Amino acid sequence: MKKAFIFDLDGVIVDTAKYHFLAWQKVAQALNINFTHEHNELLKGVSRVRSLEIILELGNVQVSQADKDKMLIQKNEDYLSYLVDMDESEILPGVFKILQLLKEKNQGIALGSASKNARPILEKTGILSYFDTIVDGNDVTNAKPDPEVFLKAAQLLDIDPKKAIVFEDSVAGIQAANIAEMLSIGIGEGTILYEADFVFKDFTEINPVFIDKLIG
Ligand code: BG6
Ligand code: MG
Repeated sequence: MKKAFIFDLDGVIVDTAKYHFLAWQKVAQALNINFTHEHNELLKGVSRVRSLEIILELGNVQVSQADKDKMLIQKNEDYLSYLVDMDESEILPGVFKILQLLKEKNQGIALGSASKNARPILEKTGILSYFDTIVDGNDVTNAKPDPEVFLKAAQLLDIDPKKAIVFEDSVAGIQAANIAEMLSIGIGEGTILYEADFVFKDFTEINPVFIDKLIG
């Protein structure tokens, strides 16, 4: 059977979550807002604009729209500076094997990411050609936990959302997959991603037998 396997990008395919954190921390520091790893969980999977709003809410700080725009530009420039030398070594353990396996088994493969930087990251890491379709932050109007990004990916693959499987490292992304009635697979900590149908620490824990079961 042909299923749709939809991958989130940041924190699932590449370890960019740490760079997003560092870049947001600079923004928070400049505003004198305490911003911890725990706070950062709230930002995972969430759009750039919404992330800034969350940080401002955390610090109970109000700024003008012009200042917000400046902060968003600064955050992205800072984030991109961490990606300059990015190559395939940044692909998280086990991801490549799973992509190859899914390709061999002729499954639908999509990217479903909130990031507007998704394409250059897939190009730099050399895995762009694995994806039959890409839906990223440039293609959607509603941020996760809204299911728009995943529903659009399934639609472009021409596969029923109920036959879709989502790999996600964020709470918002797992919720989006669940709302879309897709099978949600958390990549990370079970204590954080407890709403997922399955949770694995990373892709090395996912074996071919499990993939075969998902394909059905
Ligand atoms: C998500 C990340 O994938 O993309 C978030 O988990 C990030 O942390 C969001 O804010 C938007 O990314 P970008 O690259 O467009 O700023
Ligand atoms: Mg993510």
